[in-house]
Amino acid sequence: MRRVEALLTWFDQHRRDLPWRRTSDPYKIWLSEVMLQQTRVETVLPFYNRFLERFPTVEDLARAEVEEVLALWSGLGYYRRARQLHAAARKIAEAGSFPSTVEGLRALPGIGAYTAAAVASIAFGVAAPVMDGNVERVLSRVLAQADDAKSGEARGRLLAAAAGLLDPVRPGDSNQALMELGATLCSPRRPKCLLCPLRPGCRAVREGDPESYPAPRVKRDAERHRLLVAVVEEDSGVLLFRRPDDSTLLAGTWELPWMTRERDGVPEPGDPQAVLAERYGGRWTLGPRVGGVRHGITYRDLEIDVHRAELAWGGEVREGMAAGFFDEAGRASLPLSSLVGKVLAALSGTASTPAAAPARRSRSRRR
Ligand code: ADE
Ligand code: SF4
Repeated sequence: MRRVEALLTWFDQHRRDLPWRRTSDPYKIWLSEVMLQQTRVETVLPFYNRFLERFPTVEDLARAEVEEVLALWSGLGYYRRARQLHAAARKIAEAGSFPSTVEGLRALPGIGAYTAAAVASIAFGVAAPVMDGNVERVLSRVLAQADDAKSGEARGRLLAAAAGLLDPVRPGDSNQALMELGATLCSPRRPKCLLCPLRPGCRAVREGDPESYPAPRVKRDAERHRLLVAVVEEDSGVLLFRRPDDSTLLAGTWELPWMTRERDGVPEPGDPQAVLAERYGGRWTLGPRVGGVRHGITYRDLEIDVHRAELAWGGEVREGMAAGFFDEAGRASLPLSSLVGKVLAALSGTASTPAAAPARRSRSRRR
């Protein structure tokens, strides 16, 4: 049996029965692919069903306010996906039809190479190969390719191999078969090669050690940043700011006020109180350092000095931002940046229980 056929036959016998595999509606397939980015199938299922109950068509989604879309997304994380989904739905509704080509799809907000190829192939039968982490692992093994798959040449070879495995009549199923194979048999550890339809042509299994592919990524050296985080606390809670909708990182999430003090050991210019005033408004008085926290985000190693602070302020904030005091219950219902919990946890051992103001102030002077 040819490899293409072997792969499809395996998929026909072993495919998981998932709601987005029972439809050819491009909107529903697109929604599933967006939700499945960075999120597991079991987690996605209830969100997917609820979302489609409320927004059965792309026009329904386009008519909604973004706040309602975010509320339905709450719990899935990566809210930027929801904002872009909503923005793209408005463009599609405005255009009056769903784009059916890779180029047409890629022109929409939030749709990159992966999503465009997935939707074009699954919903419209376009022979476009997909490349996600699972496919990358399967094909690195089939080709016994040790080069970093993020390099241009290696990626080109993987894409060519993926294209060679597409059935011209069922390209969407071929793509899904490769992803499914990576998710079930060709796992990072202990792949089940004896059950694999690609085994006859797999170079890694012939070499005897499939786990050695793909080669581990070359890590870039972490940048070390030193940040200052300011905790302004009143009886009603802790002061948080909402990041502007147009920020590239974590748009719309709530954070403690912060500023950068050093990058890789080099001090940033400017007085911290002035930098905070510039970013958040008001007049800041920094109190003593009351704790320290370390936090790793992708390639950044953050060392954070936590300070108490006071703010003389009329409540005015920069355009696109919002601010408010939130106690623990209030914070539970906000999309929070992950650092907030860590900083407040570090503080709760020292002096975060709201009490009478003078007592709090005296306690906060302790280290
Ligand atoms: N992961 C993301 N989308 C998928 C799909 N359509 N099939 C299998 N795995 C996937
Ligand atoms: Fe992966 Fe093993 Fe199949 Fe090769 S034979 S693709 S290593 S599961």
